[in-house]
Amino acid sequence: MEEEGGLRRINYLRMSITDRCNLRCVYCTYWQEWKKLPSTEILRYEELLRLAAVAAEAGIRKIRVTGGEPLARRGVLGFLHSLNQVPGIEEVCLTTNGIMLLELAPALYETGLRHLNLSLDTLRPERYRKITGRNKWREVMAGLESALSLGFQPLKINCVALQGINDDELVDLALLARDYPLQIRFIELMPSVSRGWWDRHFLPLSEVRRRLAVLGFPRPAPRQASAGPAQVFRLPGFKGELGFISPISEHHCRTCNRLRLTAAGQLRPCLAGLLELDIKGPLRRGAADPWLFHVFEEAIQSKNRDWRIPLRRCTFPAMAGMGG
Ligand code: 5AD
Repeated sequence: MEEEGGLRRINYLRMSITDRCNLRCVYCTYWQEWKKLPSTEILRYEELLRLAAVAAEAGIRKIRVTGGEPLARRGVLGFLHSLNQVPGIEEVCLTTNGIMLLELAPALYETGLRHLNLSLDTLRPERYRKITGRNKWREVMAGLESALSLGFQPLKINCVALQGINDDELVDLALLARDYPLQIRFIELMPSVSRGWWDRHFLPLSEVRRRLAVLGFPRPAPRQASAGPAQVFRLPGFKGELGFISPISEHHCRTCNRLRLTAAGQLRPCLAGLLELDIKGPLRRGAADPWLFHVFEEAIQSKNRDWRIPLRRCTFPAMAGMGG
């Protein structure tokens, strides 16, 4: 956590560029209720770039491009290239499900992008189909290989730990970090699913760590300045690292340094909160930069005011379209 006068520095923006996704993951309820937003409601690339520039003025240094599935939006390569040129933005990252990665990895690398997060919850093709609704495991693995050989760094794999679904292969998943220079990050299931489903499949990361103890004694990795809520460890003989993200068993609010911009142009100070600040409205009504800056400031201030949101009082809204 970086602190300034006792406050976190809010320097990380997650930018959802589309509400569409080409997977139907079991833990993502978004697609079940999904009503496609008319494309006019989605921020255009030039609008996103303008907001990125204003966000940089407001202190944002790192932008993660998410969705939905961001690679499914046409023109994403050009957009990433331009985002990398925005003054003040030091780091551009992308979260993808990897379905289109094999095809796009070289061009993505050419945009200047280096920081890639890939969602992958299983090493078994049939299980992948059950979790995501599509038979695309081999494509994703080929995409991962391509990304590794191109040298994306950091390359992180997001793996949601699911009791009764992938909990029998946690060690195998962790071993990816032994064989490759990547970070595999285990994530606790967030209650954006029905209560019953969550109760059945939630697996606390304390249990994940217990099961990974066979791999040796993990040592905490040095903390990166722009690090998020992951706790990162190294293991002897591993090329990569293990990360743990436990939004449920440990609250992150105090160290959370991020804002979210939804594909529909709403600024959200907190994933779990309900507050949305409309930035598309002023943007499309022709507001000058200082006004847009003010909306970012307002989001940052509201985050600093209400950092202690108890999770059990939160409704976790569906996550796609607001950047996971
Ligand atoms: N709990 C935990 N992680 C989730 N993701 C999506 N829905 C959930 C959930 N209910 C993760 C995906 C993806 C990232 C963007 O968000 O695994 O890697």
